[in-house]
Amino acid sequence: MTEHKPHPGSYRLTQPVFFIGFMGAGKTSISQQLAVQYGIASIDADEYLELREDRIIADIFAEDGEEVFRDIETDVLRDLAGRSPRLIGCGGGVVTKRPENAQIMRENGHVVYLQVTADEAARRIPNTDSRPMFKNLDTARKTIVERIPNYEAAAHYSINTEGRSVVDLAHEIADHLLEIGVMVKED
Ligand code: S3P
Repeated sequence: MTEHKPHPGSYRLTQPVFFIGFMGAGKTSISQQLAVQYGIASIDADEYLELREDRIIADIFAEDGEEVFRDIETDVLRDLAGRSPRLIGCGGGVVTKRPENAQIMRENGHVVYLQVTADEAARRIPNTDSRPMFKNLDTARKTIVERIPNYEAAAHYSINTEGRSVVDLAHEIADHLLEIGVMVKED
């Protein structure tokens, strides 16, 4: 396929788009694909968090624990939600421990839930060392089940990523965003 090419014309977002879902759902790669194709700014919330804190997430968990990480995550979310609209790939646990996170995202933007199973996620992430919450497949299967209601409650729109390519998913999500006016083509 030659669909990695940018779309002709220029596009912009009318509000931020937050991608949520379990680790390995494709939040970062799909938002990057959309960014390249439509010339829209994208940011990975975890990468931004690591730069802001000058520490990798695994070290924040190891040195300060999950609670501290979740506080920083909420702060970063609020920060990004208040900026000019962009595609935001969120961490997989963004809707789990801090109920206000879903509120921040829903009130400030459009929330897209990328569905994936733990088994498929494990196939997509061969090395889970940088993901302290993944641990192993058994734990991931349990964690995902606990999290699904939170993802569903936070989402404005859900899409199953199982067996689909990033390019294909990006197309469908772009069509959806254009249809509801969250992404618009400029004349
Ligand atoms: C987490 C997912 C990670 C990262 C952190 C915690 C989680 O993000 O925020 O390790 O609790 O699911 P990705 O989903 O981008 O891997």
